[in-house]
Amino acid sequence: MMRFLRLIVCFIVLVFLAASTGCKSPLTAELDSEQPSATSRIKNKTYQDLIVGYAQIGAESEWRTANTASLKETAEELDIEFRFLDAQQKQENQIMALRKFIAQKVDVIGISPVVETGWEPIFQEAKEAGIPIILVDRWANVPDNLYVTYLGSDFVEEGRNSARVMVKLMNGKANIVELVGTIDSAPANGRAKGFREIVQDYPEMNIMDSESGDFTRARGKEAMENLLKKHGNKINAVFSHNDDMSLGAIQAIEEAGLRPGVDIKIVSVDAARGAFQAMIAGKLNATIECNPLLGPQFFDLVLKVVNGESVPKWVPSIESIYYPDDAAEILPTRKY
Ligand code: AHR
Repeated sequence: MMRFLRLIVCFIVLVFLAASTGCKSPLTAELDSEQPSATSRIKNKTYQDLIVGYAQIGAESEWRTANTASLKETAEELDIEFRFLDAQQKQENQIMALRKFIAQKVDVIGISPVVETGWEPIFQEAKEAGIPIILVDRWANVPDNLYVTYLGSDFVEEGRNSARVMVKLMNGKANIVELVGTIDSAPANGRAKGFREIVQDYPEMNIMDSESGDFTRARGKEAMENLLKKHGNKINAVFSHNDDMSLGAIQAIEEAGLRPGVDIKIVSVDAARGAFQAMIAGKLNATIECNPLLGPQFFDLVLKVVNGESVPKWVPSIESIYYPDDAAEILPTRKY
């Protein structure tokens, strides 16, 4: 009995000494290693933990199709639960989609707003539900605290670049008609603004008229037909807000018996494959790139946002300008 008591006393003394000198018995060390520290206790989320809702505009252009494919392919590669809704170019459908995502308590909402205005109430609802919003491709006119970041192009700069190219092409003298994208959309507003900023310094660069073709080929053709009826062969230049409308315009110009790219020079935006084919055929004079392949950057931002990392308020895409000279060489490398 005495031997047993001595053993217990020794054990208590040893444990006490180990604790007071900071040493740990293998058992306590093992238990401690299973206790997360204050910081590691908040486990970072991974792509597989996420549910992401996305309210896409529609499928109005070659650009948009490539944009949707990039988002869906990236979500699949990263194994993310991606809830995608196509709003068919209607703001009310995008608002309904957002309301659905809020009810489903998704982790993050991505949206390419079809127009710039009218988003504040629904964005506010998402904020109150604690769901961050990431603007993709198109900007919305809302207070800064209603979205975390905007990933997309500098539309004003695209407009400026279009004008710089047009000035060179026309030696500073032109009768231009403008094919405008969706009215009140960020790219239409930005491109129109940037184009005018440059052209205003050239008194003989005359913007005769503008008409919306809603970013689609069919509406672009219709708009160009109307403009040709109105102004006939006074028109010698077209600034088109996207490639799909340019392709429609090319058809309208040909049907009017004129040569697109020669009698009427055309500067376009997007740099989609269709524009490269038109440049190779000599029917389009330049295209200013607007990059739709935003899937990888979008999901990278999503992960940062859910894990509380700070992200810039605007993540601009990197873009170039393309001309007919090297269109044939570049076309095979184009992904959209
Ligand atoms: O928001 C980007 C624009 O939308 C692209 O220029 C156009 O083609 C698309 O539909």
